[in-house]
Amino acid sequence: MKFEITSITRLTETVYEMTLRGDCSAFNMPGQFVEISIPGLYLRRPISVCDIEGNKLTLVFKVVGKGTEAMAEMAPGMELELLTGLGKGFDTSRCKETALLAGGGVGVPPLYLLARKLIAEGKKVKVALGFNTAEEIFYAENFRRLGAAVEVATVDGSAGVKGFVTDAIRTPEIQGYDFWYACGPLPMLSALGRELDCEKGEVSMEERMGCGFGACMGCTIETPWGPKRVCKDGPVFDAILMKTFKGNGTPAPTLARDRKLEGEPSVTTDLCGFTLKNPLVPASGTFGFGQEFADIYDLNILGGISIKGTTLHPRFGNITPRIAETPDGMINSVGLQNPGAEIVYSHEVPELRSIYSGCVIANVSGFSIEEYVEACKMADACDGVDIIEVNVSCPNVHNGGMAFGTSAELAAEVTRAVKSAVKKPVFIKLSPNVTDIVSIAKACEEAGADGLTLINTLLGMRININTGSPVIANRMGGFSGPAVFPVAVRMVYQVSQAVSIPVMGCGGVSSAEDVVEMMMAGASAVQVGSANLVDPLACKKISEELPLLLKKLKINNIKDIIGISWRKM
Ligand SMILES: Cc1cc2nc3c(=O)[nH]c(=O)nc-3n(C[C@H](O)[C@H](O)[C@H](O)COP(=O)(O)OP(=O)(O)OC[C@H]3O[C@@H](n4cnc5c(N)ncnc54)[C@H](O)[C@@H]3O)c2cc1C
Ligand SMILES: Cc1cc2nc3c(=O)[nH]c(=O)nc-3n(C[C@H](O)[C@H](O)[C@H](O)COP(=O)(O)O)c2cc1C
Ligand code: FES
Repeated sequence: MKFEITSITRLTETVYEMTLRGDCSAFNMPGQFVEISIPGLYLRRPISVCDIEGNKLTLVFKVVGKGTEAMAEMAPGMELELLTGLGKGFDTSRCKETALLAGGGVGVPPLYLLARKLIAEGKKVKVALGFNTAEEIFYAENFRRLGAAVEVATVDGSAGVKGFVTDAIRTPEIQGYDFWYACGPLPMLSALGRELDCEKGEVSMEERMGCGFGACMGCTIETPWGPKRVCKDGPVFDAILMKTFKGNGTPAPTLARDRKLEGEPSVTTDLCGFTLKNPLVPASGTFGFGQEFADIYDLNILGGISIKGTTLHPRFGNITPRIAETPDGMINSVGLQNPGAEIVYSHEVPELRSIYSGCVIANVSGFSIEEYVEACKMADACDGVDIIEVNVSCPNVHNGGMAFGTSAELAAEVTRAVKSAVKKPVFIKLSPNVTDIVSIAKACEEAGADGLTLINTLLGMRININTGSPVIANRMGGFSGPAVFPVAVRMVYQVSQAVSIPVMGCGGVSSAEDVVEMMMAGASAVQVGSANLVDPLACKKISEELPLLLKKLKINNIKDIIGISWRKM
């Protein structure tokens, strides 16, 4: 359903009121919500209805992430796609004379339409609202203008009663009501459940949603009446729920505000004895030998560079088309085009070295164990190379590459052979096209690998629907880009826990946030691949954003976050 934004007003530093014009006939109860489609984001965002008058819909939202940030930037005249009339709301018939409405933070908006409906039905309304500080208060006056008695509580005592909503409801003004309705954070609802008569109340719950209309079971909670979907069976439930509801098992987040920042954050990281000035390493095949990028920015801002995959002998690679687009990514079938080990290590690496002082990683591919060994020996003998990255995961060549990376025995055999022939640290670059990445990673570690890089590309394919032919001449190719990021995070998370050698995370990284997430999964350094192809400044931008992001998250040292997603459990 199309709605047109008619106004957008900032109510507090982070809370906005948006009015829209459209067909509001699907709403029949206060406490229902809409699901908003935000351009560029996959899932819709659920927001409660704050008010409805004819075809005017009012929403009040707090900026907490990408979706609400985008909403705050929207302007009147813009069209939005909404699913309307969602959920089961508050039942005003359960209140006979006087209602207590208790709301905290962004739980306040749906209570406004509820108050208006109750007052229109001739009932008295008392409202208790909770906020952190005086600056965060919104809508208290709107409730007063409706004729409701309003008591506000602030955690810091800067306005109204000092404390929580539960303190506000104890004030004399709020006493005397026959039914209560509440919406707000779970701790607030639980506290109200302990304080008030649960037989005479309704609470509005919040859960992460997939669809918002009952189809995916993503929002199910345990209730005394069995499993219930917050979006369809709720979000408003009988307050008896509060007697048993303990939360949905979601771990309590470690809030950034609990941490303390001490000066400028450190972004350096360690890799097999090398100190990288930051964890950023352009991934092999997406950065050439560095020269194309050296014209755009100073490469010395990068922690390391993994150069184009090199084979013993020169290779033209596969026939074209070699590239296909995918939603949020791409498929390539370049097929290891490179000028061969001799030219790479006698010419390309010294050229790169003349302008770059960070960690140079030689990415090596082969078609037999002997070839891997010979090419790695040449990389080992090249002064400019610091680390050798053995690619046993290229999906674009026959009889080599991925064939070694999809078998624990063969991956271990390559590792053992290379390790016995070279002195420099050896990373093995693993393929995601396997069912058990951990066993392959462990086999490489046992065979002597000094580190692991994961992931290479996933095997993918596109078909041109006009011709019925594969888009890529080689039919299949390596799928990369933001779409593969969750697969990479999962594999880094699994592998980094199972081995004691460092892991370089790779796959879909395109922002400073992705770098932090990848390191939290267990990566000691992070490779950025396809992002360099769609924005040549990608690594530069990430290197600038990373310290600012660490500051925002109050992370003093990036090394502290390596593997925190599993270390704290
Ligand atoms: C029934 C219902 C009514 C809501 N009403 C309001 C309202 O009136 N005003 C308001 O400010 N907020 C409301 N919320 C919370 C609001 O949906 C989230 O703040 C919003 O989806 C965050 O999106 P984001 O992209 O800014 O944040 P991100 O964190 O980037 O979102 C990532 C994903 O998590 C989901 N998500 C994040 N936080 C929440 C949350 N608290 N609840 C549910 N999903 C979440 C997002 O929808 C998205 O799918 C309501 C939530 C529900 C379930
Ligand atoms: C065009 C292209 C060429 C690639 N060539 C190589 C290569 O030569 N050696 C290698 O190990 N990986 C190669 N890769 C894989 C990337 O290094 C990286 O592992 C993969 O693309 C996932 O990261 P991303 O999603 O950030 O791109 C290539 C990827 C692309 C897109
Ligand atoms: S969000 Fe899909 S069932 Fe509730």
